[in-house]
Amino acid sequence: MEKRQALASFGALSQETRLEIVRMLVIAGPTGMHAGAIAEKIGTSPSNISFHLKELDRAGLIGQQRESRSIIYSAKYDALSDLVRFLMEDCCAGHPKICKPAATVTACGGPSNKESAIGDPEGTTSLSLQSISGNDADLRIALTAAALPTDDLTEDGRHFFRIARGTDTLGFGGYELHDGDALLRSLVILPDHRGKGLGDLATRLLLESAHSAGARRAYLLTTSAASFFERLGFEKIDRSAAPTAILQTRQATSICPASAALLAKPLTPGADANVGKKSEDLNA
Ligand SMILES: CC(C)(COP(=O)(O)OP(=O)(O)OC[C@H]1O[C@@H](n2cnc3c(N)ncnc32)[C@H](O)[C@@H]1OP(=O)(O)O)[C@@H](O)C(=O)NCCC(=O)NCCS
Repeated sequence: MEKRQALASFGALSQETRLEIVRMLVIAGPTGMHAGAIAEKIGTSPSNISFHLKELDRAGLIGQQRESRSIIYSAKYDALSDLVRFLMEDCCAGHPKICKPAATVTACGGPSNKESAIGDPEGTTSLSLQSISGNDADLRIALTAAALPTDDLTEDGRHFFRIARGTDTLGFGGYELHDGDALLRSLVILPDHRGKGLGDLATRLLLESAHSAGARRAYLLTTSAASFFERLGFEKIDRSAAPTAILQTRQATSICPASAALLAKPLTPGADANVGKKSEDLNA
């Protein structure tokens, strides 16, 4: 990175709200956040956030992409890593240990490994969501084995994640975003890992992620696990009470049988972060 670019980046970061936004987006991961969700978490007006987002975008520290009618903002991990590298370049000849933490920071996160460890405020477990594509072969195998639909995995607007602890894959899950609503879908915990509280935790992580991406209400369709989701605050609703965008999803129109129950739950900031966990299992 050139000195001029570094100065522009540090200039953009040298403001409390902008620094807070960048930290928030770094934590949110590649899924990013809706401007409204950022404003809500910071506690300021959307117009103020929009001004700061523009400044950060101009400095090349964040990116944006349109999703339905919303714009989702996410951290540009490469640019942030370059900035750290700029500071640490040629550091500590003869004392490599001193540089190790910075080297680790620049190697982590970002689109390269697409990992987002969220909803785990106490750090008692390393469970994380790693963003994957709908083409992921392991996702397809796990869903097929659990008799869950795979017909529309590669269609637009779907977000899928590997549920991982370190390098171990424990399951998969995902959601679709539709105008402030999320359709939770494709949740599967691999058979060897079931019954240990991971389904619970993974659902909360997915809901936190969907909330960070701008969703304010979550919906799901299920034929076999309604009571599992009811324990997590979902309630069965009549299809006539659901938003049109949810009723028009492929899951609702053609993939799930008409007999599948439709459940809904409002999403509020942090409500799913304080995960209920069986700590002896999660620490295993
Ligand atoms: C449903 C599923 C995700 C649950 O994951 P899990 O890690 O085994 O669940 P947990 O250990 O977190 O279970 C938490 C609680 O839910 C209950 N539960 C688990 N699966 C359930 C189900 N299918 N229906 C009702 N309750 C269920 C457990 O008994 C447990 O209750 P307890 O705390 O009183 O003991 C997992 O069984 C799975 O992947 N099933 C196949 C795919 C599927 O059905 N996905 C959901 C539909 S999209």
